[in-house]
Amino acid sequence: MNTISIIGAGSIGSAIARLLTGAGLEVKIANSRGPSSLAGLVAELGPRASAATAAEAARADIVFLSVPWSRIASAVEGLGDWGGRIVVDTNNPIEAPAFKPFDLGGRASSEVVAGLLPGARVVKAFNHLPPALLAQADGGQRVLFFSGEDAGAKQDVAQLIERLGLFGIDLGGVEGGKLAQFPGGPLPALNLLKV
Ligand SMILES: NC(=O)c1ccc[n+]([C@@H]2O[C@H](COP(=O)([O-])OP(=O)(O)OC[C@H]3O[C@@H](n4cnc5c(N)ncnc54)[C@H](OP(=O)(O)O)[C@@H]3O)[C@@H](O)[C@H]2O)c1
Repeated sequence: MNTISIIGAGSIGSAIARLLTGAGLEVKIANSRGPSSLAGLVAELGPRASAATAAEAARADIVFLSVPWSRIASAVEGLGDWGGRIVVDTNNPIEAPAFKPFDLGGRASSEVVAGLLPGARVVKAFNHLPPALLAQADGGQRVLFFSGEDAGAKQDVAQLIERLGLFGIDLGGVEGGKLAQFPGGPLPALNLLKV
């Protein structure tokens, strides 16, 4: 069984944590302020969740990275080589309060993120829906797009998506991920249900 963690405990990180614990999976969750600041969230999530430092969280087999775009570099600084572990890139290259898109020079955002994660197998997913929609079932499986260059990593993430009660659609490699990139792609905020 893969170990799972989340770096980033805000709107999206905590929504993913609720999905994971709700599906009976264990998760470690980290933020920038340290484990003690996560006591309230961990108490809400229940016994399958625990707080960790980002360095501890980074040792899981599957690590969700869910921090504001401008904080990604500092969040992963000093974590070393990822040794083939999977990072799920939930991030979008835009952030409050300005909501001015970051200039990626035409590159896919997950290509930029992967450049900060030596040795990681990066899968872009969980980035195109607001957190409230991730949490709702509405009588069907919420459709989630995913993309990435590593077929094995995508298979593991696809299995996890299914385990969480969602319906995954593979968009291909990093270039395919541009379809679900926000801003710019046509798919973000598309709220589809498989019934
Ligand atoms: N909100 C949405 O609707 C939405 C939807 C899809 C995708 N996204 C993407 O998901 C990512 C997270 O968005 P969000 O709305 O969840 O952000 P958020 O609510 O502002 O939460 C950000 C989290 O990142 C943590 N963090 C910041 N710097 C860190 C660092 N250096 N090390 C470890 N943790 C750090 C923060 O911890 P502290 O509080 O301790 O600093 C906080 O827990 C963004 O890239 C965003 O584009 C957001």
